[in-house]
Amino acid sequence: MSARLEAEHLYKVFGRRQDKAVERLRAGADREELRSDGTTAAVIDASFTVEPGQIFVVMGLSGSGKSTLLRMLNGLLEPTAGQVRFDGQDLTALSPRDLREVRARKISMVFQHFALFPHRSVVENAAYGLEVQGVPKAERLARATESLELCGLKGWEKSWPDELSGGMQQRVGLARALATDADLLLMDESFSALDPLIRRDMQDQLLQLQTKLKKTIVFITHDLNEAMRLGDRIAVMRDGRIVQTGTAEDILVRPADDYVASFTQDVDRSRVLTASSVMDREVRGDEADCACTTATPDTSFHDLCALSARLSHPVAVLDGKKKLVGVVPRQRLVGFLGDESAEPEPCPAPRDKGGEKVTARA
Ligand SMILES: Nc1ncnc2c1ncn2[C@@H]1O[C@H](COP(=O)(O)OP(=O)(O)OP(=O)(O)O)[C@@H](O)[C@H]1O
Ligand SMILES: [Mg+2]
Repeated sequence: MSARLEAEHLYKVFGRRQDKAVERLRAGADREELRSDGTTAAVIDASFTVEPGQIFVVMGLSGSGKSTLLRMLNGLLEPTAGQVRFDGQDLTALSPRDLREVRARKISMVFQHFALFPHRSVVENAAYGLEVQGVPKAERLARATESLELCGLKGWEKSWPDELSGGMQQRVGLARALATDADLLLMDESFSALDPLIRRDMQDQLLQLQTKLKKTIVFITHDLNEAMRLGDRIAVMRDGRIVQTGTAEDILVRPADDYVASFTQDVDRSRVLTASSVMDREVRGDEADCACTTATPDTSFHDLCALSARLSHPVAVLDGKKKLVGVVPRQRLVGFLGDESAEPEPCPAPRDKGGEKVTARA
């Protein structure tokens, strides 16, 4: 499978003497060192690939360079150095006309505050991208209607934007992006302005749509929980650089540095972890006997908890060939909810409490 999108050693520098700045960055200089010269290194040496059908999330704090990176991916900004390849084609080498063509037909963007045209109906708004492409009216309205239905807005076609809630307006933005049949969706904080319940609903809807449409999506967010829910792969940015790229589980269980680790503290681990990352790979003889209750390496943490609650013995984890690859004792699950490196401590000795004998259970 060849990559749909590739970023190779991308740099974007704003301000004076950009080539010189790139040289200094290549030699290891950081943002702060350049800032004193009045130069901003927005993106520094970013490389990654996105496979067809993947959701690639770029996560980082405000100012870390996410939007600048995204704008280079669709050619809205020209990289100071490096390449962007889309289906093997070097976007940086295209003429402005060819680039406009690729942008109109193959790439769609959804922004944080999706600006709808107030004097156009919902369906006309959703059809806008097709209008730009010169698709005849009847066809574009039919495709936009279909796309609105996919986004849960059936019946709202003839409404005006101000009759819709913020979440619904954002869905019109998504419908507009989907109506064009673009292979690549670039989403910049698309759900960040929504309140938490609607935001979660939009995330679910995107994941559900993705099972049908299998677009290639680059999704930007500053919220690690959102990144972990949506991302097949996640790149974490700090001060212009990508400091780690990996799956949600990689980032949670094997953070590249203390900075990434500090982000993961508030993440709901139970939504991300699977049996393969929590299981004990060293199986004792007596534990191997209890393989009557089994899970697979990708059984979710939630399901493991449900299994484990009914058992007094560990859950056995079997691979595709039914080979025992690990066990998950219940206390390990509890440990992982707090700290993934937590090793169970020995039980304190049973002691008398108000005359009642308290006995530690095995
Ligand atoms: N046109 C520009 N000229 C000068 N500096 C810029 C320009 N665009 C972005 N920057 C700077 O580049 C850095 C990265 O900005 P960028 O907008 O990419 O960050 P971001 O991660 O998207 O932040 P946010 O989460 O706030 O949207 C910032 O320091 C910003 O001030
Ligand atoms: Mg931004």
